[in-house]
Amino acid sequence: MPAQSALLAAAIAIATATFLLPPDSRLSWMPRSRFADMILANATIYTADPARPFADAMAVRAGRVLRIGTYDSVKVGLKGRHTYELNLSGNVVLPGFIDSHVHFIEGGLQVLARVPLRGIRSKDDFISKVQGAVRDKPSGQWILGGGWNNDFWGGDFPTAAWLDDISPDNPIWLSRMDGHMGVANSLAMKIAGINKSTNDPVGGTIMRTPDGEPSGLLVDTAMNLVFDVIQEVAIQERREALVRASKHALNRGVTTVVDVGSYFPGSPTEKTWQDFSDVYKWTHSVEKMIIRVCLFFPMPTWARVSDLITENGRSLSQWIHLGGVKAFLDGSLGSSSALFYEPYEGETDNCGLQVIDMDNLLNATLESDKLGLQIAVHAIGDKANDMLLDLLDKVVDLNGMRDRRFRIEHAQHLAPGAANRFGKHDTTASVQVSYSPDHLLDDANSAAKKIGTERAERSSYTFQSLLAGGARLAFGSDWPVSDINPLQAIRTAMSRKPPGWEVPWIPAERLSLDDSLKAHTISAAYACFLDHIVGSLSEGKYADFVVLPSTSWDEFSNDVPEQVLATYVSGKLAYP
Ligand SMILES: *[C@@H]1O[C@H](CO)[C@@H](O)[C@H](O)[C@H]1NC(C)=O
Ligand SMILES: *[C@@H]1O[C@H](CO)[C@@H](O)[C@H](O)[C@H]1NC(C)=O
Ligand SMILES: *[C@@H]1O[C@H](CO)[C@@H](O)[C@H](O)[C@H]1NC(C)=O
Ligand SMILES: *[C@@H]1O[C@H](CO)[C@@H](O)[C@H](O)[C@H]1NC(C)=O
Repeated sequence: MPAQSALLAAAIAIATATFLLPPDSRLSWMPRSRFADMILANATIYTADPARPFADAMAVRAGRVLRIGTYDSVKVGLKGRHTYELNLSGNVVLPGFIDSHVHFIEGGLQVLARVPLRGIRSKDDFISKVQGAVRDKPSGQWILGGGWNNDFWGGDFPTAAWLDDISPDNPIWLSRMDGHMGVANSLAMKIAGINKSTNDPVGGTIMRTPDGEPSGLLVDTAMNLVFDVIQEVAIQERREALVRASKHALNRGVTTVVDVGSYFPGSPTEKTWQDFSDVYKWTHSVEKMIIRVCLFFPMPTWARVSDLITENGRSLSQWIHLGGVKAFLDGSLGSSSALFYEPYEGETDNCGLQVIDMDNLLNATLESDKLGLQIAVHAIGDKANDMLLDLLDKVVDLNGMRDRRFRIEHAQHLAPGAANRFGKHDTTASVQVSYSPDHLLDDANSAAKKIGTERAERSSYTFQSLLAGGARLAFGSDWPVSDINPLQAIRTAMSRKPPGWEVPWIPAERLSLDDSLKAHTISAAYACFLDHIVGSLSEGKYADFVVLPSTSWDEFSNDVPEQVLATYVSGKLAYP
């Protein structure tokens, strides 16, 4: 009958349209179902939520955790005809990882070609890599790159002399893997106006040859002399870098990153702000954000950060969150500029660099803190960490107690007793588990080389002491200094066995699996004030999670796998 077949055709058309449309667009015009979009079943879910540490099923609706628990309790009233059930056959599920310290756009740029020098192991390879990059560049164009580590070839620093013959017509800038030092060729120095009579800027060093000529190496604030003259990397390249960086992080199971920006002591603060508007906000406006970010801005711009938060709140959307402000107190171990009480091995005069005046730091910290901004300060050496803990005491004295979640970034080497001071004001140690790029050289060896075995053994990466001292522990990679790899970090924090070692390095500082997992999930979320939306698989939070190859908790805890099987953001597959 015609009437009937017309009805049938209409029904088929509706059914087909509903079926063919991706779940998202269906949600936008259909009345929201009370049923779950998806139920994970037969999973071994570690929730990172102390109220319910483990579960075997989870219902997700509109990107959030709707209910979590046993399958029977989860399905009741939530399992509808269109609910997609994912049978995980026992596979372990964890909350999506949070990387607490990345230089995200810079990381993406390093992944994007340039001159990749990470892992280079000899002077000859270094030179030929650069030579290759110079070959196809028109004369005058800058050659930029980074990631080199002189420890891989016996310690000699590269100098302008290595580069001048192969690149007479192109200025070169190649930063060390830790970002605290770099080498320029003579043309770059000429353009930057660096010569024999140029004085070291405050907080930086122009390294010199025995006859007083600049060698090409610039440390900390001295790098700005070159940064000032490098043409800005095209905005398009930075946008592309964000996409690459996001994909890289998602591959490793990271669903939220804390981006501390590209700001270094004394460098232009504008770059971080440009990245905020031209890269992050732009990417968001074209709906291309695929990872959650929490952004920290250079501390000197605290007033601007405060205005921004007053205007927009702390979250611009589910993707972009405004963290707070970041400052630096010292340099890095690799560049011998982290600030210690005692001098570096074999350098009687060098205890490292204090890169900011303490009165200025206190003033900016007090002002930012009064406006309610969260504060993160970089401190690596034992003296820098003590100075910062002292400063925090003053801030609490003057501004009073509040939920400020003060962050010490790195907290890498601590003097005796320092770990016990973290608990007093609920301070976060935002630490890196490994500074070994490519895991070729281990941190144990390089720390011992820089500060001596005894000092390295009593002060380095004291994670267990920090927890015992009441610190919040948040793990981050410091990418691109070290690769983004939470599972590797968790394995290393538990074993503390550098590659090739039979015995753990400082065994007393090993962490349990639970503490290691929390440092990459709920504690990391707490440390950036995002624990109300991410960090654990709890009802109401975003359904950000990873699926692992391990098919039971026993299997997982005995041998933490190296790679995730899948990463979900807001309940949607984001990797593979
Ligand atoms: C969970 O696994 C069991 C057997 O292993 C199976 O009978 C059950 O259907 C699975 N549940 C779902 C929702 O797939
Ligand atoms: C779930 O997976 C298990 C193990 O692979 C299998 O035995 C079971 O039949 C699956 N259940 C369903 C409903 O697919
Ligand atoms: C040498 O450096 C000084 C100070 O940085 C600068 O004023 C001068 O112009 C430089 N000279 C040349 C020849 O570049
Ligand atoms: C910080 O310095 C400014 C300018 O010197 C001053 O006006 C302000 O009172 C100082 N703030 C604090 C909290 O010391």
